[in-house]
Amino acid sequence: MTTELIESAIRELETYNKQGESYTDATGRYGWRNPVRADTGDLLRVLTISANPARVLEIGAGHGLSTLYLASGLANHKTCIIDTIEFDPGVAESTQQRMNDCKAPVSVHTGDALDVIGTLSGHYDLIFFDAQKGC
Ligand SMILES: C[S@@+](CC[C@H](N)C(=O)[O-])C[C@H]1O[C@@H](n2cnc3c(N)ncnc32)[C@H](O)[C@@H]1O
Repeated sequence: MTTELIESAIRELETYNKQGESYTDATGRYGWRNPVRADTGDLLRVLTISANPARVLEIGAGHGLSTLYLASGLANHKTCIIDTIEFDPGVAESTQQRMNDCKAPVSVHTGDALDVIGTLSGHYDLIFFDAQKGC
């Protein structure tokens, strides 16, 4: 994992599309793909540093800003893996590419979290939920 590459990817996403974008899921529910604010990102980073997790689960990857903040807290825990879930296939693919480009230890799982979670095994030390909360 390269901290500099992760920080650079965070800076890039912080200046990009901060208003988010709307989406409609398969059932017609409407939501917003708003990235976390920088203060929330800092909180995620601190929580990750203090939890010193072996495994992190994120639900609602979007373009990966929060994922990158989580990864930035892992600098001293090189074996940690982050699993993150995103139901939009195009967004999931580009987010995985972004994680690969900065060598963040992230696996983006494509699909509805309600289905994907059942395919994941083991326990997680830190879970961040940022998918659609309303119905
Ligand atoms: C608020 S955005 C996530 C923003 C992201 N955490 C960030 O900080 O950049 C919510 C994301 O969750 C995804 N999503 C919503 N409901 C989902 C579900 N049931 N399963 C998987 N992904 C879902 C949406 O497609 C959207 O990209």
